[in-house]
Formats: sequence, C-alpha cells, structure tokens
Amino acid sequence: MTYQEAVRHIHQLMDDKIEFLFKDKQPESLYQAMLYPIEAGGKRIRPLMLAFSCQAVGGALDVCLDVALAVELLHTFTLVHDDIMDHDALRRGRPTVHVKWDEPTAILAGDGLVTLAFQSLSQTNHPHLKEILQIFTNGLLELCEGQAMDKAFEVQSSVKLDEYLEMIDKKTARLIEVSCRIGAVIGNGSDEEQEAIRKYACNLGWAFQIQDDLLDLISNESVSGKPIGSDLREKKKTILTILFENRASDIQRNQFLKLWKQNSLSNEEIHEIRTLFEETGVIGETQNRINALLNEASKALNTLQPSDHRNHLNAMILHLKDRVA
Ligand code: IPE
Ligand code: IPE
Ligand code: MG
Ligand code: MG
Ligand code: MG
Repeated sequence: MTYQEAVRHIHQLMDDKIEFLFKDKQPESLYQAMLYPIEAGGKRIRPLMLAFSCQAVGGALDVCLDVALAVELLHTFTLVHDDIMDHDALRRGRPTVHVKWDEPTAILAGDGLVTLAFQSLSQTNHPHLKEILQIFTNGLLELCEGQAMDKAFEVQSSVKLDEYLEMIDKKTARLIEVSCRIGAVIGNGSDEEQEAIRKYACNLGWAFQIQDDLLDLISNESVSGKPIGSDLREKKKTILTILFENRASDIQRNQFLKLWKQNSLSNEEIHEIRTLFEETGVIGETQNRINALLNEASKALNTLQPSDHRNHLNAMILHLKDRVA
C-alpha cells in the first residue's frame, strides 16, 4: 500500500467510527458542537502516527483503531479550548466553536470530547491497557502544563530559549510522543523499538511546533485554515520572537517593539515584522532548526526493521517538511 492509500484507509476507518460514535446522540446542543470541529477534518497526524508506529513494530491496525481515535478526540478537545485561550476565530477553515456558538458551549464541547477520548481508549482490551492509560493521562497532564507555560509567557517580558523548548515539548511534542509510544506498546514493540519511536516522535513534535510558529507568520489563512499573526497579537513567545531578541540591532528591536505593542496588526504590519525577521536571519535559522530536527526524527527510524509502515513514518516527515497548514 502506498503512503497516500494508507492515509486514506485509516481516515476512512476513523470516519466510520466517528459516525457511529455520534449517531442519534442527544442533546444536539452538545453533540453538534462536539462533532463540528471533528468533521472539519484536520490532518489527523496523531492517529496516523499511532497506527504506523503500531504496524512498524509488527502490530495489527484493527487493534489500535480505538486508541487512534482517542488521541484525535483528545487533540480536538485541546484545540477547542486552545482557541478560547488564544482568542482565535478560525480553525480548520471554519469559525471556532466559541465563535459559532459561545464560550460555555465550547468549554462543554471540549469536556465532552475529552470524555469521549477516554471512553474510546477504554474500548481496547489490550493486555497493556494500564500502561497505555498511564502514558495517555501523564501526557495530557504535561500538555496542560505546557499550555499553562504558554499563557504565562505572554505576560513575561523575556523568555529564554530553553524555557520555550520545554514549553513546546510539553504543549505539542508530548501528545505526538504519546501517540507514537502507545502505537509501539499496542504493537508489542521491543524496548529498542519503543525507544526509536519515542525519539522519532519527540524530534518531529519539536519541529512541528517550531514550524507552527513560523506558519503563524508566513502562511496564508485560506490554506492554513487558521488566522495569521495570531501569535503576535496574543504576545506569544515563539521561536521567532526569541531568536529575534538575540539577533536584532537596537534599531530593529525598536521597530519591532513599536508594532508589537499595538493591539491589532494590519496585514502590512505583519509583513513588516516578517521582513524584520528575514533581515535578522531569524526565518532562516528557524527553517534550519526544523530541518535538523526532522533529520534526527528520520535517523531514529533506522533502528526499526524495514517495512512499508516504517516508510510511512518517514513519508510523514517529508509531508510535514513541506506543509503549509
Ligand atoms: C495544531 O495541530 C496544534 C498544534 C499542536 C500546533 P495540527 O496542526 O495537527 O492541527 P489539525 O489537527 O491538523 O487541525
Ligand atoms: C497548540 O499551540 C498547542 C495545543 C493545542 C495543545 P498553538 O496555540 O500554537 O496551536 P494553534 O496555532 O492555535 O493551532
Ligand atoms: Mg492556538
Ligand atoms: Mg495556544
Ligand atoms: Mg500556533
């Protein structure tokens, strides 16, 4: 099976499960708001990685599907609440849940999604369910810690690179790691295989958030399905602002601070900031960091036995390298 065929196959299996999960559920005021962000799609990289990791160590696809769905439900929950926290109005090309409905509905939809995630996880009767549950819950708690750091940094005048790296490790890389590790556990991978998959996932997860920071500035709303410049508006400490802090001259820093202090930025002003980041080499360094991490992710896979599924994990790296959304 080619990578594209495997992706389509897993997406279809998940769509079927989602349809079944939401069939005839009442009250509609809750379930419609839960289904809406899932139906919008998304790349679904976490369930794909879970499934490929499971298969790459010799596990079967059907055994890991409920857990694959669980990580996507959990991820979607984090996005619904993240958009409230980040005051964002667009997600997966649609108005966010709190904008389409209201904040109470979005909070509750998130609560419902995380509950469905645990329900789906508990469907599996794998002998290592306890370990799977531990990886899942510990990971979710760390994700919350990462989100708390992300929010705290907004009002912190300066954030060190190390602090930023810890924050993205928790808020983003952890769930990617959880997905891959659980896949490897379900597939009964050896310790060595599990370690290889963990390394792959962490490097990919760090690269993924660094790239997300970059896309917030250089992508396009119509392709990314998310607002551009949202991180600047929210005073997020991203890889870009942290590298800029170290590289800018006083003149460049003042130019930046004048725009940064504004409550809203026009497209032209976002472009001005982008030019400042380009001039100082921040964009180039960010891209180099992404590439270096993705190379590490790819290298980690070398210890796994060659297989279509290992190739699919590698294909995901290439796919993410070129992503615009
Ligand atoms: C967005 O995740 C949140 C981050 C961790 C950066 P994705 O980029 O995987 O979002 P979807 O699921 O494809 O919409
Ligand atoms: C997302 O970070 C992390 C989680 C949702 C846990 P961001 O806030 O940068 O994600 P986007 O850019 O809104 O998707
Ligand atoms: Mg956000
Ligand atoms: Mg956020
Ligand atoms: Mg972002």
